[in-house]
Amino acid sequence: MPHDQRETPYLDATLRYRSTGYTPFHTPGHKLGKGAPDGLRRLMGDAALAVDLAMAGGVEDTRESTHLVRLAEDYAAEAWGADRAWFLVNGSTSGIHSLLLTLCGPGDAVIVPRNAHKSLLAGLIFTGATPVYMEPVIDSAWGIPLQVSSEDARAAIERAPHAKAVLVTSPTYNGLGADLSAIGRLAHDAGIPFVTDQAWGPHLRFCPELPVDAMTAGADAAVVSTHKLISGLTQSSVLMARGERINHARLDTMVGLTQSTSPQALVYASIDAARQQMAVHGARLWRGAAELAEWARAEIRALPGLRCLGTEVLSQGGVAEFDPTRLTVSACDLGVSGYRLETLLRDDYRIAVEAADSLNVVLNVTFGDRREDLELLVGSLRDLATRHGDAAGKSGSACSSLLARTPRFTRQVLSPREAVFAPTVARPITECAGEVSAEMVTPYPPGIPVLGPGEEISPEIVTYLREAGGAGLKVHGPEDRTLATLRVVA
Ligand SMILES: Cc1ncc(COP(=O)(O)O)c(C=O)c1O
Repeated sequence: MPHDQRETPYLDATLRYRSTGYTPFHTPGHKLGKGAPDGLRRLMGDAALAVDLAMAGGVEDTRESTHLVRLAEDYAAEAWGADRAWFLVNGSTSGIHSLLLTLCGPGDAVIVPRNAHKSLLAGLIFTGATPVYMEPVIDSAWGIPLQVSSEDARAAIERAPHAKAVLVTSPTYNGLGADLSAIGRLAHDAGIPFVTDQAWGPHLRFCPELPVDAMTAGADAAVVSTHKLISGLTQSSVLMARGERINHARLDTMVGLTQSTSPQALVYASIDAARQQMAVHGARLWRGAAELAEWARAEIRALPGLRCLGTEVLSQGGVAEFDPTRLTVSACDLGVSGYRLETLLRDDYRIAVEAADSLNVVLNVTFGDRREDLELLVGSLRDLATRHGDAAGKSGSACSSLLARTPRFTRQVLSPREAVFAPTVARPITECAGEVSAEMVTPYPPGIPVLGPGEEISPEIVTYLREAGGAGLKVHGPEDRTLATLRVVA
């Protein structure tokens, strides 16, 4: 019998715990708010503090402390089309770690996109596996990675036929979806498990008009960040698996190793509630959100000097699908960088964006937005376009010319794990050509690593990074953010 998706077993138990009014001799020390400092009480409210519990010794009985979670996870597995689901309190980050720890070990190859989230790097360091990269094309107008194509996947599988997994990140941060079904088929034909980082796709399963979700596309496992685009509290995510290609018992063990041993009941309850909301109302809610986003996109595109990414990106690189609810907006043609646009929106219009880089801002539209929120956004951008209209035609950033020359992956000399644990030294960047990097270096844009631990540093990379440093590009990863030095294997 399928579960009744209108039910919320874990949420209900949490509410029951609060209304019963237990005297707590368990964590946390503030004892359901009674001992909480005033500031924290003002911040959270008594109602939230009264269910600030770790799972065991709280919502559940300490003797059978996983029964309710497992039940709620089964509802989630069914909703997302999986055989088994796990609630995560350490984000999709910990889902990726659990997956890699399940699928590969020291010396194994794993096929991954070059623009994968940094949680993948930690997974590689934990396991000792070596990445085989699929490199998405960078769109130089937007400064964003496009998608890996099935051709990229085919070539990678030919290079690494014994790889332990093919992992694809889809959709990307900018809502670009890969052809998951085709890539999944290629992996399966080669006998390799296919897993998807769908951190930006917790909603896809529930609205047929949106890009395909991982399970429908045939993935063996996927992770979705319920906190990113649906109603899960921050840090909540769901890992899911289906079929025989992945050992579910081992995955269960690895989830146990990567999660806090004190999962927050509120986070679990929020996943349960978010799943119910999506399963029951998802299609209607997301149709509404997509409509609002499409309206805003059309309005923004009509403003002088402003651009908003849309379906024209389909079929470029490996982009097979587009999530219309993600708005990537550029005011570069007004001489306004993405960082400046973020600041202007925040300071002058009290609008907070999801992310900014030198070129763009990214905004999420969900069922939580109202028509007036989108009208405020469009009105603010209109105002901004008028204020900055006289600068039209200037480039907002010095990084555009750099983007076109983003160096490609060189060579993996050591595994990421070997490089990270080797003796290392910080060298002036001018002396680094020919050395092996001990760190990851990711300039934004395009948000693709130019270097990962264990990779050979080419003269082109040195030149590029020196220019990137000079152009003030934000760089994630290296110890020395000024890029005067790089940490290399000694
Ligand atoms: C593609 C991708 N995967 C994984 C993650 C990690 O997700 P979380 O923040 O839920 O740990 C992110 C976070 O932004 C992401 O963008």
